[in-house]
Amino acid sequence: MHLPDYKEARTRDKRSYKRVNFEENSEVKDKYRGKTFYLKTYGCQMNEHDSENIEALLVFLGFKKVDNYLDADLVLLNTCSIRENAHNKAFGMLGRLKHLKQEKKDLIVGLCGCMAQEASVVEEIMNHYKWVNFVFGTHNMYQLPEIIDKAIEENKQQIEVFSREGDLIEGLPVLRVNDYKAYVNIIYGCDKFCTYCIVPYTRGRERSRLKEDVLKEIDDLVRDGYKEVTLLGQNVNAYGKDIYDNYTMANLLEDVAKTGIPRIRFTTSHPWDFTDEMIEVIAKYPNIMPSVHLPVQSGSNRILKLMGRRYTKESYLELFHKIKDTVPGVSISTDIIVGFPGETEEDFLETLSLVKECKYDNAFTFIFSKREGTPACKLLDPVSIEEKEERLQRLNEVVNQYFLENNKKLVDSSLPVLVEGISAKKNMYYGYTDTNKLVNFTSDKELQAGDIIDVKIMEAKTWSLDGEVVG
Ligand code: 5AD
Ligand code: SF4
Repeated sequence: MHLPDYKEARTRDKRSYKRVNFEENSEVKDKYRGKTFYLKTYGCQMNEHDSENIEALLVFLGFKKVDNYLDADLVLLNTCSIRENAHNKAFGMLGRLKHLKQEKKDLIVGLCGCMAQEASVVEEIMNHYKWVNFVFGTHNMYQLPEIIDKAIEENKQQIEVFSREGDLIEGLPVLRVNDYKAYVNIIYGCDKFCTYCIVPYTRGRERSRLKEDVLKEIDDLVRDGYKEVTLLGQNVNAYGKDIYDNYTMANLLEDVAKTGIPRIRFTTSHPWDFTDEMIEVIAKYPNIMPSVHLPVQSGSNRILKLMGRRYTKESYLELFHKIKDTVPGVSISTDIIVGFPGETEEDFLETLSLVKECKYDNAFTFIFSKREGTPACKLLDPVSIEEKEERLQRLNEVVNQYFLENNKKLVDSSLPVLVEGISAKKNMYYGYTDTNKLVNFTSDKELQAGDIIDVKIMEAKTWSLDGEVVG
């Protein structure tokens, strides 16, 4: 049994890690044939992609996927710690599973992902959720077959959570959700330690994959007919710093562009590491999509400092405009937190003024959520939740107005769209533009998912565009 510990999770040193190839344990292959699983994923794209590995490992054990947890022999929750509501949702689901397990005694229930890295969650599960069969952490995913097998064979709760990252595992099996768009991890973990954020504790230190491993994965995807890759990391711009003296995110982007994959995206970028070389590479290669997610978090220098973000409003704006001026037609999206401890009305107005200058194409807005063990959790927070909710609403009104304004500028233009399929609700095709905008559209000729076609935009809405295929 290994239990999580934040003190250990916080340590950063120059210890080198080994790159190890995943080896299948043939003893458990297909052992659970005839059994079914339901996997519920909370949180970010990193978790979604982890779930693609988890699914493949469950299938390796012989389990078959079902879409309703009531039909499953094994239910696994891949959890998220980023805000309290993600945490509450997972515990709500555990509540429903407790009832189900009273009727279905053989049901196997497990929890993994970021919440498994939290000592308080694991303590709670060990003390009050003794019926949960297993818990494994983000650094233990490759051990899934053995952990589940042991939980079933020994009929005893298994807790396997390494607080610190171990080896970097390559070659995990993967069952991708989409046949045309793929996630590819390029860097794990985060060393930024923004004061509100739990990720550096749950995901460990920054560890880049070898460029050869990343490029091989993408070459294989091209060969398999994939049209789009999203390079994933908590902070992709730090790529390479931990393993190379002279090979950066800009170099990787350029090499990925040369694989010929039609569309390349990357997320998430911390403004601190966004170099001029990266901007030039994005502008140079047509297959690197003109779409950048650039979280700002706040427009107040005082709050940015308390958040430990390492930039000022002015330096963020300089970067923002450099990207806008260098990459033609680029769309920029962001993340914003309101109600950080001690945020005053003046601080909030600074955020509004920044938003009015940036006129973002998309923005994910959140109310600050206390995460146990982070420095911001200990700060005095005199602002009431009602006031924070009101700020969020005011912010959303402003950001939404720019989404619509930006979309209206696209009416009558023709934009390249990667077709995803037909939306059942609208009975129209749908897909995403190069700038990552959702388009619902009609077409006289039949289209296939994975086609990239030009769509003429007819109407703009706040969160989507309507269009038709011309010619
Ligand atoms: N409270 C609210 N929002 C948070 N985020 C990260 N931690 C917190 C927190 N404690 C937001 C940030 C980040 C996004 C992924 O989630 O805006 O960019
Ligand atoms: Fe969290 Fe900051 Fe790292 Fe993003 S950069 S994962 S917000 S600590």
